[in-house]
Amino acid sequence: MSKKPLILGIESSCDETAASIITENEDGIPIVLSNIISSQVDVHKEFGGVVPELAARSHMEKIDLIVKKAINDSGHKIEEINAVASTAGPGLIVCLSVGLSFGKAFAASLNIPFIAVNHLEGHALSPKLNSNLNYPYLLLLISGGHSQFLNVQNLGKYKRLGTTIDDALGEAFDKTAKLLGIEFPGGPQIEILAKKGDPDRYNLPKPIINKGGCNLSFAGLKTAILKITKDIKTDQEKFDLAASFQKTVEKILYKKTKIAFIEFEKQITTKKKIFVVAGGVAANKNIRSMLNNLCKEKDYQSMFPPIEICGDNAAMIALVGLEKFKLKQFNDLDYPAKPRWSLDENAKFLKGAGVRL
Ligand code: KG4
Ligand code: ZN
Repeated sequence: MSKKPLILGIESSCDETAASIITENEDGIPIVLSNIISSQVDVHKEFGGVVPELAARSHMEKIDLIVKKAINDSGHKIEEINAVASTAGPGLIVCLSVGLSFGKAFAASLNIPFIAVNHLEGHALSPKLNSNLNYPYLLLLISGGHSQFLNVQNLGKYKRLGTTIDDALGEAFDKTAKLLGIEFPGGPQIEILAKKGDPDRYNLPKPIINKGGCNLSFAGLKTAILKITKDIKTDQEKFDLAASFQKTVEKILYKKTKIAFIEFEKQITTKKKIFVVAGGVAANKNIRSMLNNLCKEKDYQSMFPPIEICGDNAAMIALVGLEKFKLKQFNDLDYPAKPRWSLDENAKFLKGAGVRL
């Protein structure tokens, strides 16, 4: 039996300090030996959002303990680790720098390879942590900072089909929550409140629904909600607005995913059609079930990471590290932190005023 690699993954791009140890079995299926996540919700709660300097300080205070715990829980010794993979971007530079520097120092001190990981690639590959998944596949990445449709052709090879031209979907959930007076981080709460409301009470806009291919836009929704919240007086009205928002988002994703299917099919030669949904918002059960039904309708195999792996974690970073390790794709220790780092480097920047679709 050949010795399987043991990879340490480190994640600190935003407000989660995380470390994980993974390996793989004889068939090349990843095995998560430990997955430690320390959230900073309490640090940022009173400010209603992530404060970069406080986040970085908290990462610095915790990173060694979190890594130590990940190694201890894995049942392995530090000397057995074969490579370190750290998130290098995209994210908050002061936060990225903590996990990146820690990972580099760790690799240097053990004289093992260092691997710089794109956080978005971690999300993109995350369903591989619990299932077999072959390239190519269509990915809908919906997180707090990104909303994109991508043709995932291979490790490190992405073709963007559509992106948000303004807010990310997670951001829209969080902003709606804030307007409804829900404590940070409010995104996941919207899904819960929506269950108690009437989804047809408020007619919200669906920006660029009939143009721009599978590009997305959510900023108009926030403006509409801001206007409505000014007149909201009862809890029931709050629930109804949350339900109307959830339903509108589902309608937008339904329509845009159908367009993305067509775009994706133009680019692939394989018969099997796979659709992966990943990122924090992929934890939303109603969105999962709606997209699952769409896949049945359109003959796609749908795949979602387990709910607990949808948000930021280091197992997905270690997983990218494992794939790169097997291909000997290592990085130098002067690899920079990249606050912006697109998966498809050739895709046009599509944000801000004056964007032409
Ligand atoms: O992937 P993630 O943990 O961090 C980023 O890389 O951005 O995504 C966080 C985002 C937040 O905006 C959060 O509100 C959203 O995912 N989110 C949800 C749910 N759980 C997390 N949005 C809607 N429904 C949920 N259940
Ligand atoms: Zn993320």
